Amino acid sequence: MIVLRGITKRFPGVVANDHIDLEVRRGEIHALVGENGAGKSTLMRILYGLYQPDEGTIEVNGRPVVIDSPRTALALGIGMVHQHFMLIPRFTVAENVILGSEPAGAFGRLQRREAEERVRELCQQYGFALDPAAEVSTLSVGEQQRVEIIKVLYRGAGVLILDEPTAVLVPQEVDELFVNLRRLREQGKTIIFISHMLDEVLEISDRITVLRRGRVVGTVPAAGTTKSQLAEMMVGRPVLLELEHPPVMPGDVRLEARDITVAGRGGKPAVHRVSLAVRAGEIYGIAGVEGNGQTEFVEALVGLRPVISGQILIDGQEVTHATARAVRLLGVANIPEDRHRRGLVLPMAVWENVVLGHHARRQFLNGAFVDRQAVESFADKQVEKFDIRLSSIDVPALALSGGNQQKVIVAREFSFSPKVLIAAQPTRGLDIGATEFVERQLLEARANGMAVLLISANLEEVLSLSDRIGVMYSGELVAEFRRGEATPQELGLYMTGTRRQTAGTGVSPS
Ligand SMILES: Nc1ncnc2c1ncn2[C@@H]1O[C@H](COP(=O)(O)OP(=O)(O)OP(=O)(O)O)[C@@H](O)[C@H]1O
Ligand SMILES: [Mg+2]
Repeated sequence: MIVLRGITKRFPGVVANDHIDLEVRRGEIHALVGENGAGKSTLMRILYGLYQPDEGTIEVNGRPVVIDSPRTALALGIGMVHQHFMLIPRFTVAENVILGSEPAGAFGRLQRREAEERVRELCQQYGFALDPAAEVSTLSVGEQQRVEIIKVLYRGAGVLILDEPTAVLVPQEVDELFVNLRRLREQGKTIIFISHMLDEVLEISDRITVLRRGRVVGTVPAAGTTKSQLAEMMVGRPVLLELEHPPVMPGDVRLEARDITVAGRGGKPAVHRVSLAVRAGEIYGIAGVEGNGQTEFVEALVGLRPVISGQILIDGQEVTHATARAVRLLGVANIPEDRHRRGLVLPMAVWENVVLGHHARRQFLNGAFVDRQAVESFADKQVEKFDIRLSSIDVPALALSGGNQQKVIVAREFSFSPKVLIAAQPTRGLDIGATEFVERQLLEARANGMAVLLISANLEEVLSLSDRIGVMYSGELVAEFRRGEATPQELGLYMTGTRRQTAGTGVSPS
């Protein structure tokens, strides 16, 4: 269906794609895997007409083509599902689907009805659970993704490119996505799928192509391939997949939430009377389906969202109404879940992003001025330690691959010996090597007496790292367990609100 030959793409100082050959068969699910910065997104952007290759040729259906824009790609039947959804919340599903492909002028009533009908047919044909008349603002993340997929199908795509579609989904939504992808395959669609979750890749795909540093390492069938084989192909050496969790004696309470209630949208509190305490040398994991108040809870803790009632204490000092800056100065680091909005200033150079919010530290000052050299040598060290792949620390953060952007934030937040680290989805978008590294850093920080609050949609990660686990559901802490006390199944029941226990006494076992 698609043949790429010798595709090469250079950016200043880096060869993102180095003579890549790739064949994708009609009706297969073809996964693309590789380390952060290996060139996966670049290759797919070339296929979708967002970038032009410097060298190489593309054939679609046996015919050589030049794909100079997404419009051309779509005309050739190639569609890409956006990772950052581009939907208009106040519009209905159907309106969003036809947006951009409607004839000139706004939708007339008749047109809207026709579009709704067509969208309904598509949903039926592919078995997508979606109501065309529903307003997008009422949809879950998984449903919004379905809208993006239908949008591409509506435009007649036979080839769908999905770049890390599961990164934003909770496990159940991943299952639903896979059901949908299999249906699409049954109906003859071709799917190219990028993911760092190797279990998923092995489960869903027919064949897998591994990239390393811009080159193809090989293409293998999923059947008969193991996770560690894939990992080794990606990284070029065997990768350890087990983490040790040695016992650590927890110390004093560093971070405490006492019965806090936090405002959400539309007057209803997003967080309702949550109490918890995290001690030095302890990782407290919060499990929960995204959208159950975790985001607002973290924002309140770091001083970015007003607290309606209750108290927040850092080392026993009240910071309930303190500013974000004041909280940070008390030694609270935060890896935010939304790296583009909160974690980075994308147009700014990597060296600036690595010290963002910390540039006024004495180590970076020379008199009243920022000591550029000190900052740069600091940045160089972080790049080395966290294996951030880039051509130069002078490039803007937006020129980094998704995973490498995440590494910049992680490096910064670990750097200034915080007492408390609030880490939201710290390994999202990271490859297995980088994930393992960050998880080790978290355990090392714990061993050194840091108090870590870990918020992760990845249940496996929460279970393997945490000393205690709290489950958030509908803005409340509905259960609390010590390490080893709860199975993933049990946690799942609490996470979906099927069961609850009285939790949140805020008293930590010592
Ligand atoms: N617009 C750009 N300008 C400069 N360099 C870029 C640009 N886009 C990508 N690169 C570089 O090209 C290389 C490949 O990046 P790409 O985004 O394709 O990686 P990836 O395999 O998708 O990684 P990840 O898993 O982290 O998303 C990286 O070194 C990246 O810094
Ligand atoms: Mg990418």
